[in-house]
Amino acid sequence: MESLDHLRDEILRLIRQATSLDALEQARIAILGRKGRVTELMKGLGALEGADRRERGQALNLLKGEAEEAIGHAARRLEDEALRARLAQERVDVSLPVRAEGDGRIHALSQTIDEIVAIFGEMGFSVAEGPDIEDDFHNFAALNIPPEHPARQEQDTFYLPEHRDGGRKVLRTHTSPVQVRTMQSIAPPIRIIVPGRTFRSDHDATHSPMFHQVEGLVIDEATHMGHLKGCLIEFCRAFFDIDDLPVRFRPSYFPFTEPSAEVDIGCSRDGGGLKIGAGGDWLEILGSGMVHPKVLANCGIDPARYQGFAFGMGIERIAMLKYGIPDLRAIYDNDLRWLRHYGFLPLDLPSMTGGLGR
Ligand code: DAH
Repeated sequence: MESLDHLRDEILRLIRQATSLDALEQARIAILGRKGRVTELMKGLGALEGADRRERGQALNLLKGEAEEAIGHAARRLEDEALRARLAQERVDVSLPVRAEGDGRIHALSQTIDEIVAIFGEMGFSVAEGPDIEDDFHNFAALNIPPEHPARQEQDTFYLPEHRDGGRKVLRTHTSPVQVRTMQSIAPPIRIIVPGRTFRSDHDATHSPMFHQVEGLVIDEATHMGHLKGCLIEFCRAFFDIDDLPVRFRPSYFPFTEPSAEVDIGCSRDGGGLKIGAGGDWLEILGSGMVHPKVLANCGIDPARYQGFAFGMGIERIAMLKYGIPDLRAIYDNDLRWLRHYGFLPLDLPSMTGGLGR
């Protein structure tokens, strides 16, 4: 029978000579694989008898154990070496200058919302929110919008599929339903603004099926039309950062306010370009009015005791006017070049520092 001493030397040499993990694996296969040296010898055990077979079997098992242990050691050594080589190669040179990274920007729309919130925040308003998916009561009925009102017709409103009970939810067409939700849930005095998404089935250069509004609501026992005017004049001047911006209140109609007024700001269109500020022209920017007594009653507030005003405006529209954004649709394109041009650096909040209290 072949002496195993010789084979052992050969096996250990094979393992020692492997200089990479791949080479070690080849060696393992040559020794312990299905057709490896030790495996082949083990297959031959069947041909032996009695004590010979036992003795040879034990010796082979011993050899197999030794080979496995040597392979394990070699593997750990090679892994360590590979790691050390990689660390040496990948060493970081901390003295290299930092690679320039593109600064993120605050989207012009987020910036505008922050400015609006900052201005009304200084006037004591807090921010309220409500769901994008509304029911008929909150989006329409409670706001005194009767069933035959044009705003209810399908071309304006996105309706969800009919519910089993026959009701149909809608994507809110304005932020006004949050007025209703607020009056239902807290007692006056109320002083909130509601920035949020709104939805209408409309799409062209100045309309998007999803857009943003900010709603305002003030309810207490004494707030009157004079407060509405003072508050909105102050807002317009702070937002556009023009101290003597002309502001005009024009009689109008909304189902949920009485009386109602649209608010225009002064501008000039001389020479083709639009310029906000003094001038011969007017630009409509928001709707407002004294909350209709029926709306108060629909929301569980006693109209004999409480009154107040509300307003609503499109955020994209005033952002476009303030920042000279020509195309509404580009606001949602997420084109990096647009974002870099119209975006803002963090803490660049002109209205916080230069808006009110100038
Ligand atoms: N909800 C109105 C709209 O979508 C905007 C509006 C006008 C809201 C007058 C008000 C308001 O609260 O008093 O177009």
